[in-house]
Amino acid sequence: MSIVVSGVRPTGNLHLGNYYGAITNFLKMQERNECYFFIADLHSLTTHPDPKMLHTNVRNILSEYLACGIDPEKAAIYMQSDIPEIVQLYLLLNMLAPIAELKKTVSFKDKIRKNPENINAGLFTYPVLMAADILIFNANYVPVGKDQEQHLELTRNYASRFNHRYNVNYFNQPTAYIFDKELIEIPGLNGSGKMGKSESNCIYLVDNPQIIEKKVRSALTDNGPVGENTPKPDYIENLFTLLRAVSTPEVVSYYENLWIVGATKWYSNLKKQLAEDIIKLTIPIRQRVNDIRNDDTYLRKVTQEGAEKAKETARKTLKEVKQLMGFKSF
Ligand code: AMP
Ligand code: TRP
Repeated sequence: MSIVVSGVRPTGNLHLGNYYGAITNFLKMQERNECYFFIADLHSLTTHPDPKMLHTNVRNILSEYLACGIDPEKAAIYMQSDIPEIVQLYLLLNMLAPIAELKKTVSFKDKIRKNPENINAGLFTYPVLMAADILIFNANYVPVGKDQEQHLELTRNYASRFNHRYNVNYFNQPTAYIFDKELIEIPGLNGSGKMGKSESNCIYLVDNPQIIEKKVRSALTDNGPVGENTPKPDYIENLFTLLRAVSTPEVVSYYENLWIVGATKWYSNLKKQLAEDIIKLTIPIRQRVNDIRNDDTYLRKVTQEGAEKAKETARKTLKEVKQLMGFKSF
C-alpha cells in the first residue's frame, strides 16, 4: 500500500486540466492506498485573495472535488491551513532549500514575468510548502499534472538532503503519479499553452452545456489539413488531446483517420462530438456540486474528519523529524 497526496489551490473553479491532471489519477489511487487530498488554501495566499472570497473559493473547490468522486470514506480530505504541522515542517525544510535552486524554478520565473509587481517570499518558497504538504505524510506518489513535475523534483531534493544531513533513511522519494506513460497536460482552447485559470481558456466542470458548446465551437481551427498525413498545427493537436481525454478510442481514431487522409470540412463535427462528450462527463458532476455546495453539515463533517485523520500522521512525522534534527524537551 502506498501513501498518496494531492492538492489544489482554491482559486476559481475546477477545469478539465485539473480533472485529468490531478483528479482522475487520484480517483484510481484512492481505492487501495492511504490517500490524502487537500485544499491548498495557504498556497493561494501568494496572490492575496479577497478575505470575503477565500472561504467561498474553498467551498466551491471542495464541493467540486467531492462531486468528482473523491471519497471521504477512502481519502482524508482537509484544508491545508487546518494542519499546523505542515507549516512547521515548511520552516524546517526551508533550511534545506538553497536560494539558487528556488530561483531556477520555472513556475517562479513564469510568475515574476507575469506579475513583476508581486514577487513575495511566499511565492519564492512555494515549492518548499508544497514539499511539506507531501513529506508530512512521507508520501510515495503525488497525482499531479505535468506543470508540477519540477516542484516534485525539489521535494525529492529536500527529502534526500534531509536523509543525507541527518544520516538517516527517513523520507521516501515521492514521484508524480501517472497511469499513462506521460504526465498529462490538457491544453487550452485558444491554441496556445495549457488550460489554466489564469489563461482564460478553461472549460470548467460546472459550465453549463450551452457554455461548453460555445467554448468548444470557438476553439481555433483552420481550413483543414493541407495534404495527407501532414504534421498537425498546435491548435489542432490540442483539440485531439482533449478528444483523447474525453472520448472513446473509436471516436479518436475516426477523427485521426480523417486527418491522416487529408479530408476537409470535419472540424465542426469534431467540435460537436467533443462538446457532447465533455457535457456527458460534466453533467453529473455539476448536479452533484449543486447538492453538496450548500450542505454545511456535510462539508464540516468531511473536513473535520479529514483533518483529524491527517493530523494523526502529521503529528507523528513532525515529532520524528524534530527528534532526528536534535530537538529534545527537558
Ligand atoms: P491548479 O489549479 O493550478 O492549482 O492545479 C491543480 C492540479 O491540477 C495540479 O495537479 C496541476 O498539475 C493540475 N493541472 C492544472 N492545469 C492542468 C492542465 N492544463 N493539464 C494537466 N494538469 C493540470
Ligand atoms: N502546486 C499545486 C498546484 O499549483 C498545488 C499543490 C500544493 C499540491 N501542494 C501540493 C499538489 C502537494 C500536490 C501535492 O497545482
